[in-house]
Amino acid sequence: MRQAIMISPGKIELRDIPEPGQLKDDEVLLRIKRIGVCGSDIHVFHGKHPATPYPVVQGHEYSAIVEAVGPKVSRVKPGMRVTARPQLVCGECGPCKRGQYNACQNLKVQGFQAPGVAQDLFVTTEERIVIFPDTMTFEQGAMIEPAAVGAHSTNRTSGLKGKNVVVAGAGTIGNLVAQFALARGAAKVLITDVSDYRLNIAQQCGIGGTLNVKNISFEEGVRSFFGDDGFQVGFEAAGVQSSLDNLMQFVEKGGDVVILGVYSQNPVVNMFYLGEHELNVYGSMMYRHEDYEVAVEMISSGKIITSPLLTSSFPFNKYLDAYKFIDEQGDKSMKIMIDL
Ligand SMILES: NC(=O)c1ccc[n+]([C@@H]2O[C@H](COP(=O)([O-])OP(=O)(O)OC[C@H]3O[C@@H](n4cnc5c(N)ncnc54)[C@H](O)[C@@H]3O)[C@@H](O)[C@H]2O)c1
Ligand SMILES: [Zn+2]
Ligand SMILES: [Zn+2]
Repeated sequence: MRQAIMISPGKIELRDIPEPGQLKDDEVLLRIKRIGVCGSDIHVFHGKHPATPYPVVQGHEYSAIVEAVGPKVSRVKPGMRVTARPQLVCGECGPCKRGQYNACQNLKVQGFQAPGVAQDLFVTTEERIVIFPDTMTFEQGAMIEPAAVGAHSTNRTSGLKGKNVVVAGAGTIGNLVAQFALARGAAKVLITDVSDYRLNIAQQCGIGGTLNVKNISFEEGVRSFFGDDGFQVGFEAAGVQSSLDNLMQFVEKGGDVVILGVYSQNPVVNMFYLGEHELNVYGSMMYRHEDYEVAVEMISSGKIITSPLLTSSFPFNKYLDAYKFIDEQGDKSMKIMIDL
C-alpha cells in the first residue's frame, strides 16, 4: 500500500509499505478517504513545529471507511463511514484521571509525535472512532476534526448565550469557532482577519459580522458593530500578538478571552488589562470525544457549514504539490484536502 512520509522539512517521499497484519481485539482497520491539511502540518513542512521529530507520517484530520474490525469490536462495523481522534493519551496522569485527557501530561498526537494516517490503510482503536452518517460526504467527514476544535473552545467559558463575541482570525479554526458561537446562542458574532478572501468565506457560512483590521481599526470596527453593548467574549484564533492585545484591551471588563492560537513568536501578555479589568483567560486544547460527536451532529444537521471552506483537493501521489499550493496561494486558499 502507499504511504507518504516526510523525511525532513520540505521533503515528502511516497513509499510502498506492507499492509497492516492481524488486528488485535479492540483494533479497527480503516481505508483512508480524505485527509485535510492544516496550519500545524504546514509548520511541520517548514521545520517550524516545536514538537515534531522527523521522519513523520502526517495526517490527523480525515475521513475513512471501516475495512475490518478486531474480535472484540462491537460498536463499529465494516463499511461504516468514520473518523477518529488522533490523541494517544496515558490514562494515568492527573488530567487523564479527571477526564481532561486532551491535556494529558504524556499526550502524543498522531501525525506529530506518533505516525499519522497518510497511507491507504491505517489501524486505530475502537474507543477513538466516531461514526458519521452516509448522508455526509467524505469532505465533511474530514472537517469533523477542526469543527471539534470549535465545539470544544466554545464550551470553555461560562456560556455564550446572549453574549456578544469577537473571533480574531477567519482561518478554518476561527470560522468554525464563530459558527459554533452562533449555534450556542451568542447574540452577535464579529470575526476579524486581514484577508478579504477569508472574511468573504465567513459571510458565506452565515457569520454576519466581518472586520478587516487592515482597513478599519479593531476599536472602531467593534464599536460600529456592537455599539454601546461592546463584546463579552473574545476568541484568539489568529496566533498573532496584535489580535491578542486587541481582545484583552477591548473586551468588556470582567469578560472572557479564549486562546486557541499557536504563536510562532511567544506573545507579551498585557497584565494591566488582565488584572485591572478582571478578565478570565482560558486555554483551549484540541477536543474530547464528545466534541467530535457534537461536530458530527452539527455538520450533518446543516447547522455548521463546511463546504465554503474547501478550496481544492490533490490526489495522494501529488501530496507535495498540496503543500506547495498552500505556500503559493497564501491567504487566497483555505482548506486543502488529499484525496486517496
Ligand atoms: N487550540 C487548538 O486546539 C488548536 C487547534 C488547531 C489549530 N490551532 C491554532 O489556531 C490558529 C488558527 O488555525 P487555522 O488553521 O485557522 O490557521 P490559519 O493560519 O488558516 O488562520 C489564521 C488566520 O488569522 C489571520 N490573521 C493574521 N493576522 C491577523 C490579525 N492581525 N487579526 C486577525 N486575523 C489575523 C490570517 O489571515 C488567517 O486567516 C493557529 O495558530 C493554529 O495553530 C489551535
Ligand atoms: Zn489540524
Ligand atoms: Zn495522561
